[in-house]
Amino acid sequence: MSDLAWTSAPSGPLRGEIRVPGDKSISHRAIMLAALAEGTSQIRGFLEGEDTRATARAFAQMGVRIDAPHPSERVVHGVGLHGLAAPQAPIDCGNAGTGMRLLMGILAAQPFDSTLVGDESLSRRPMRRVIGPLSRMGASIDAREGGVPPLTIHGGRRLRGIDVALEVASAQVKSAVLLAGLYAEGETRVREPHPTRDYTERMLSALGWQVDYSPGRAALAGGRVLRAGQIAVPADFSSAAFFIVAATLVPGSELVLREVGINERRTGLLKALELMGANIETTNTRELGGELVADLVVRHAPLRGIDVPVEFVPDMIDEFPALFVAAAAARGTTCVRGAAELRVKESDRIAVMAGGLRRLGVRIEETPDGAVIEGGAFAGGEVDSAGDHRCAMSFAVAGLVAAGAVRIADCANVATSFPGFVELANRTGFSLA
Ligand code: S3P
Repeated sequence: MSDLAWTSAPSGPLRGEIRVPGDKSISHRAIMLAALAEGTSQIRGFLEGEDTRATARAFAQMGVRIDAPHPSERVVHGVGLHGLAAPQAPIDCGNAGTGMRLLMGILAAQPFDSTLVGDESLSRRPMRRVIGPLSRMGASIDAREGGVPPLTIHGGRRLRGIDVALEVASAQVKSAVLLAGLYAEGETRVREPHPTRDYTERMLSALGWQVDYSPGRAALAGGRVLRAGQIAVPADFSSAAFFIVAATLVPGSELVLREVGINERRTGLLKALELMGANIETTNTRELGGELVADLVVRHAPLRGIDVPVEFVPDMIDEFPALFVAAAAARGTTCVRGAAELRVKESDRIAVMAGGLRRLGVRIEETPDGAVIEGGAFAGGEVDSAGDHRCAMSFAVAGLVAAGAVRIADCANVATSFPGFVELANRTGFSLA
């Protein structure tokens, strides 16, 4: 628990044009794949967050030279698939589930042993979902009781390709299996219960590794070569989400969010907010580094409650804390179902958001896989983000439209995904300190 607390006070219209920091999912993958590539890669728009910097440190620990000529830029001197050196100490993934789970796939195929550790939150997160399929490929990974980190990964195993139908819709699990598949004998095929973000597949393809993929499935063969390249990282939709909800809720707002990644597997929130009555214009759609990006123009609009369609859930899995705030400020009832995964994120996001919103006087009922939220006016008060970056930023949005200031405890982890959030938010019209 950090002692960094914020106070977010009601404010006037949000205005201006901003670019939020680079995409976290893509930044992790960029470091990893560039490290395993042959040659020197350049990453532009890299997220200078604690999570992604921890991933860069992990590869530096394994002998990969990574230069940072300017902020948000990295030059990665790839060592090839078989060029990593044994780390001399446990690798600390910090708060990053993506960092740890994707690394598991890579490390399971190395000739050396390794240990992965994380912070308090990451040390509670389920890893059996990754250990299961990797073990079937021939990996040997020990976890602490309950299947949680620290993890010991035994090297020197020969991996074989598998054909696996995953039980959870998780891009992290899919990616770990595909990364292990790079080293495996034969073909690795992954099928998902619902399509998830396809950044690993896209970036592997861009760096010259043939991947056969379509929504919900991916296949590749082991034993090829990754070629270094130029990787451009779009602005993170999940970071933009707080501003999208904020500008929608505060009367008189008009905010432009530049160069936001709008990959279909990430933008379920746009569809949900549209059903609720939001006014979000997607303009200037173009390609950046093989990803669709756009400038989003968000204008205030009154919202009504909805039943969030279950098929939207995987495409907005990181946006529920923000959606809960939108629902709390909407007219009528919003019902979320099919989102049990929220309970095993950086925090139990259903419990943390319900707990906080209730403190502000919102009527909200938790269910095992979602919540029923009665929208309307709500008060200021004291809430606890439980060290969860997305909950902290969502409560900051709540403070804009509450009747009084919202004091938010335990906000330091916002630096994992959104360094500079407070300054940027205040620049658009938040009153956050
Ligand atoms: C991510 C996948 C999602 C998401 C996380 C980032 C990724 O997790 O919640 O923030 O980069 O692959 P799951 O794979 O656990 O759904």
